[in-house]
Amino acid sequence: MNNLNHLAIIMDGNGRWAKNQGLLRSFGHKAGAKTIEKLAKVCIEENIKSLSLFAFSTENWKRPKEEVDFIFKLLKEYLSSELNNFIENQIKFVSFGDISVLDEVTKELILEFEEKTKNNSRLVFNLGINYGGKDELIRAFKKLNNSNEEINEENLTKHLDIKEDVDLLIRTGGHFRISNFLLWQCAYAEFVFTPTLFPDFSDTELRKIINDFRICKRNFGGV
Ligand code: FPP
Repeated sequence: MNNLNHLAIIMDGNGRWAKNQGLLRSFGHKAGAKTIEKLAKVCIEENIKSLSLFAFSTENWKRPKEEVDFIFKLLKEYLSSELNNFIENQIKFVSFGDISVLDEVTKELILEFEEKTKNNSRLVFNLGINYGGKDELIRAFKKLNNSNEEINEENLTKHLDIKEDVDLLIRTGGHFRISNFLLWQCAYAEFVFTPTLFPDFSDTELRKIINDFRICKRNFGGV
């Protein structure tokens, strides 16, 4: 049986989910945010150590301003309302990506949420905000360069936002691409692409994917 320590999810399909019901795209993001809670519960029950989710990419700024504003409004609401849930379920919140460009209120909320959940130990919940895999690598290489340490995998990893390799990457929404997510960490990840739109992604489907992962053969370049 394979150990599943680190699960990553690209939460795609919110916009199409909303459109299918004649709603604005924003409703899809709202429904997507609701889906997250049940997935985190599955992770705890399945003894997964880290869950990494892609909320907003370095490329998502290209979306219409109203949509970008809505996603950040949703994030702020989420951070303002979810603290009890994170504490009750012993979930540690960690943001990854470059949050330096965000407004002060949002940054403060993120840092406060991280601080208040930092000793929780059942699940690490990593949320990618203004995250891009290439951007993360460039930032890490710059830090490594300034440190004068030898350039090797171990030293580069020390400077990444996310230091653990991904075991299983799931992308909802039917597209077969990685979209600049955790490029280094997915080097040996197993990939699962499901057509299910993220708001419809259920705990039952997640459990099925996890069970299939546990019995698949991982070679890591060997035989
Ligand atoms: C991709 O679907 C989804 C996003 C770019 C945003 C994901 C954000 C959330 C689930 C909510 C914010 C998170 C929190 C924690 C509050 P898409 O819009 O690209 O869908 P489409 O492919 O159907 O257009």
